[in-house]
Amino acid sequence: MNWDDLYRKGEVFWNKGAPSLPMKQYLERHPERGRALVPGCGHGHEVALAAEFGFDATGLDIAPTGVAAARALYPKLAHRFVVGDLFDPPAALRGAFDVVLEHTCMSGLHPSLRASYRRGIDLTLRPGGLLIGVWFINPDLDPGDEGPPFPFPVPDLTALFADGYEIVHDYVPDVAFESRVGRERMRVLRRVR
Ligand SMILES: C[S@@+](CC[C@H](N)C(=O)[O-])C[C@H]1O[C@@H](n2cnc3c(N)ncnc32)[C@H](O)[C@@H]1O
Repeated sequence: MNWDDLYRKGEVFWNKGAPSLPMKQYLERHPERGRALVPGCGHGHEVALAAEFGFDATGLDIAPTGVAAARALYPKLAHRFVVGDLFDPPAALRGAFDVVLEHTCMSGLHPSLRASYRRGIDLTLRPGGLLIGVWFINPDLDPGDEGPPFPFPVPDLTALFADGYEIVHDYVPDVAFESRVGRERMRVLRRVR
C-alpha cells in the first residue's frame, strides 16, 4: 500500500475534514491528559483535537505528503507532525506517551500487519498508559472490494490486545460521521505491563 501516492493523487477517501466525533465525546467526558500520540494521523484532525483538549500531542504518519498537508492545515501545530513508521518508531517517540489515540490507522492496515501495529503501540505507549481507540470495525465494502478499510471484527480487537492490556471502556458510540453510524467501536485499553 503506497499511502503517499494516495495523498499525492488526492485520493484521501477516509478524510472527513474534521476530528472523530466519538473521540471528541470521549475526551470531553474523561480527564486523562499528558503526552499523546496519534499514529497514522493523516491530515492531523485528531492531533488538533488533542491539542485543543490540552494534550501534548504528536502525530506520526508514514506518508510525507499527508504530513505536509497536516502542517499546512494546522500551521501552529506544524512541529507536532512527524514523518515516520509506527512499526519502527523514531527513538524520540519510544516509551514516550501516556496516551495513544487511534482513529482509522488500524483499519487502513492489511490484517497481516496487525501484529506490527500492536508492536508499534507497545513501543510508544508507556506501561500504565491508555490506548483510546475509535475502532472502525465494520466498514462498508463494495462487492469485490477488499479494503482498505479492512473489516476489524471486535473479537480480533480483543485477541490482539488480550495479553498485556485490560479493557477500561467499551461501547458503541452514539455519535458518528453519517457514513460510520453503527460501524465504530469505542474501546479504551490500559497497558498493564
Ligand atoms: C486510513 S488513513 C487515516 C488517516 C487519519 N487517521 C484520518 O482519519 O484521516 C491511514 C493512515 O495511516 C498511515 N499509515 C499507514 N501505515 C503506517 C505506518 N506503518 N506508520 C505510520 N503511519 C502509517 C497512512 O499514511 C494514512 O495516513
